[in-house]
Amino acid sequence: MPNYLLTGAGGQLGECFQTVATQFPQHQLICATREEADLNRPETLEKIHAATPFEGILNCAAYTQIDKAETEKDKVTAINEEGVANLIDFALPRQLKIIHFSTDFVFDGHQKSPYKETDPPHPLNSYGQSKVKGEQLLIQAKLPSVIIRTSWLFSPYGSNFVKSIVFKAKKGEELKVVSDQYGTPTAGLDLAQAVLSILDHPALFEAPIYHIAQGPPASWYGFAQQILALSGSKAALRPILSEDYPSAARRPHYSVLDTQRIQKNVSLTLRNWEDALADCLQLIQANEGL
Ligand SMILES: NC(=O)c1ccc[n+]([C@@H]2O[C@H](COP(=O)([O-])OP(=O)(O)OC[C@H]3O[C@@H](n4cnc5c(N)ncnc54)[C@H](OP(=O)(O)O)[C@@H]3O)[C@@H](O)[C@H]2O)c1
Repeated sequence: MPNYLLTGAGGQLGECFQTVATQFPQHQLICATREEADLNRPETLEKIHAATPFEGILNCAAYTQIDKAETEKDKVTAINEEGVANLIDFALPRQLKIIHFSTDFVFDGHQKSPYKETDPPHPLNSYGQSKVKGEQLLIQAKLPSVIIRTSWLFSPYGSNFVKSIVFKAKKGEELKVVSDQYGTPTAGLDLAQAVLSILDHPALFEAPIYHIAQGPPASWYGFAQQILALSGSKAALRPILSEDYPSAARRPHYSVLDTQRIQKNVSLTLRNWEDALADCLQLIQANEGL
């Protein structure tokens, strides 16, 4: 039975993997929070491997606070760059497989058509820069590894846009949401299911990077409209421009991911994010007693 170490198991995507793992009994996941497997303390990885050898790592560990990253450059570098370098050093002598996650924020958004894996990255912010460096380290390493770029994750776990809109609407706050940034919302639970369903595909490691995201493209405002409609909320929602929503980090105006490569190489297609959103809202409402 192949074993994968799941790092960052306490984060949003890590929790999604833990939730869907039982549907994939062919993969035994060793779920480790930061305390148990810390990329900046490689001895923690060695300890787990000595006790329960595993043959691959699903790396959901990362620094993901996009605005804070502008003032916490040491932290973001330590986790998203040095942490990945440590992971590679640990995996190399053991030839472990690495499935690593990255982001649409590696792109600057100047393109007008969906970004392919072959388009050159050009990040606008510190978070994106650190994710590009992490990607480059993995691509250069002589390891069976795959980078999965995804975007605009939502789920019943952690902090995310869907939960934030639901809670603000519930409190009766007026919602102002940017309408000039377009991307591809993606359900973390659907992404985790998709990844576990392709882990054993013989062609998976033939490409260094894949884009996995749901369609159709949307703006944050359009995404918020759907969240309110599907949750039956009548909260007031107003579109605003990025320039009217000052934030520490610049964000791409367009970061739609082209997913043709994953469709072609391993026959993976995902349902639309609207269908996944309806399921996610039900889970949020049940979990939060809304
Ligand atoms: N969220 C999105 O919208 C989005 C979009 C595109 C791509 N992604 C990518 O998807 C991946 C997962 O994101 P996410 O949303 O699940 O992020 P998240 O909720 O912030 O989870 C990241 C996890 O990594 C842990 N961590 C931080 N430093 C660590 C270290 N040195 N060693 C081990 N664990 C460490 C964090 O622990 P602490 O909480 O204790 O720090 C947290 O549990 C990331 O690679 C991210 O770049 C996310």
